[in-house]
Amino acid sequence: MERPPSEPNHPGAIRPSAHESLSRREALRRWALGGAGIGAGWSARRAQAQAASASTKNAGAATPSSTASASPLEPLPEATLRRSDPEAYWTRVRRGQFLLPETRAFLNPGSLGVMPRPVMQAVVESLQRGAEYATDTVPRWGYESMEPERAEMAAFLGCAPGELAFTHNCTEAMGFIAAGLDLKPGDEVVSTNQEHGSGISCWRVKAARSGITLREVDLPVSPRSSAELLDRLVSALGPRTRVLSFSGITSPTGLVLPSRELCEAARARGVITVLDGAHMDGQLPVNLHELGCDYFAGSPHKWLFAPAGCGLLYGRPEALDRLWPSVASGGWDNKTGLQAARFMMVGTNNRSTIDGMIAGLRFLKALGEEAVYERQHALAAHALSAARQRNYLEVVTPEDPRLHRAMISIRFKNDALEPLWTALRQEDIGVLGGQRLRLSFHVHTRTSDIDRFFGVCDRILRS
Ligand SMILES: Cc1ncc(COP(=O)(O)O)c(C=O)c1O
Repeated sequence: MERPPSEPNHPGAIRPSAHESLSRREALRRWALGGAGIGAGWSARRAQAQAASASTKNAGAATPSSTASASPLEPLPEATLRRSDPEAYWTRVRRGQFLLPETRAFLNPGSLGVMPRPVMQAVVESLQRGAEYATDTVPRWGYESMEPERAEMAAFLGCAPGELAFTHNCTEAMGFIAAGLDLKPGDEVVSTNQEHGSGISCWRVKAARSGITLREVDLPVSPRSSAELLDRLVSALGPRTRVLSFSGITSPTGLVLPSRELCEAARARGVITVLDGAHMDGQLPVNLHELGCDYFAGSPHKWLFAPAGCGLLYGRPEALDRLWPSVASGGWDNKTGLQAARFMMVGTNNRSTIDGMIAGLRFLKALGEEAVYERQHALAAHALSAARQRNYLEVVTPEDPRLHRAMISIRFKNDALEPLWTALRQEDIGVLGGQRLRLSFHVHTRTSDIDRFFGVCDRILRS
């Protein structure tokens, strides 16, 4: 069985070229000069922020509405256009809301998503407010419980605010869970061979350090059905299994696992479930109470438009209570008062990332969650149909459209791919992978970006 590569140091990963960084520099220059919306919006919002800060002086913690801009700087196109001409609608969204240069086709938001302008603005404003000490609160996070922000994110994720903590990324959340659980030698953790390095290494460390057994079950890369995946994993749970840890959507190929059914089956056997949801929030509706996992780790800087450096840690109340903090400050043991926020007592951090994350969530809501998921899936369908017409590659993504969302995977038959990587770089097309390649799509992706990618593949690989 093929072991999927983990993302970091992926052998075929394409490095940014000089051409690419020039385009980005140009975009930033335009942004800094205040062109196309953001400059004007920034001054106006800064005046608003100053007025708001004057009126909230001495009012204690700032509310999310005063810390994270929600509304797009340029109005979104009319929803009627989305229905009549989706391509025109989403192209206008890209031009109005993103800093991506026109020539850039970025087909890898699955590694790190793209911050839209309103998020960028929220981050900048947050930093500015911090520099001005515009409110009486210290401009940071790390000793704060951030109730309004947690409430807003919790409502989106279908959990209670007291069950949710912010972390720096999904890796950290997974590490907090694995390191914080009391397991004894001989206890077994079941996971899969398709985990990201961050979803499995936390368990490998625990196995090396404390004598637990880690079983990495081989999952089929191209299963026929969800039932096949469910059966493979549930049948691996044995009498010593204490934990089942798996990705809701896998990193190497974008495969969607039957998370709710897996959690239900594990719970029926008294097994704790850890859901690595790095690719879930922003790619499909997440309702943590309905999913029924004990723990969830999220990565909003992938699909939720957040700036890099944001993560989510969820635990059911009794699951959180049994978890030891791995990083501790005052309040680490205040289970009833702080609840999940005791895992946020981690020392001084940059608050603008959290403000940006909330702005990203609001941006998603402004676009309409369902509309975003539908667009992502439509782009994936377009790419799959293009891939199926090419005989120099195999489609790894399974036939059943319920088994993928916004990420698909293909495998080139030829392994001499250097000319392809060079051509993609020259054409300003960003992808992740090697002979097996993952393509991911978000609202900034144009159908023409996908067509351009396959056009380059045709030129290089069609004999
Ligand atoms: C399934 C999965 N888990 C965890 C991670 C790590 O996420 P982060 O970089 O936010 O820590 C990734 C990153 O790609 C991932 O794909």
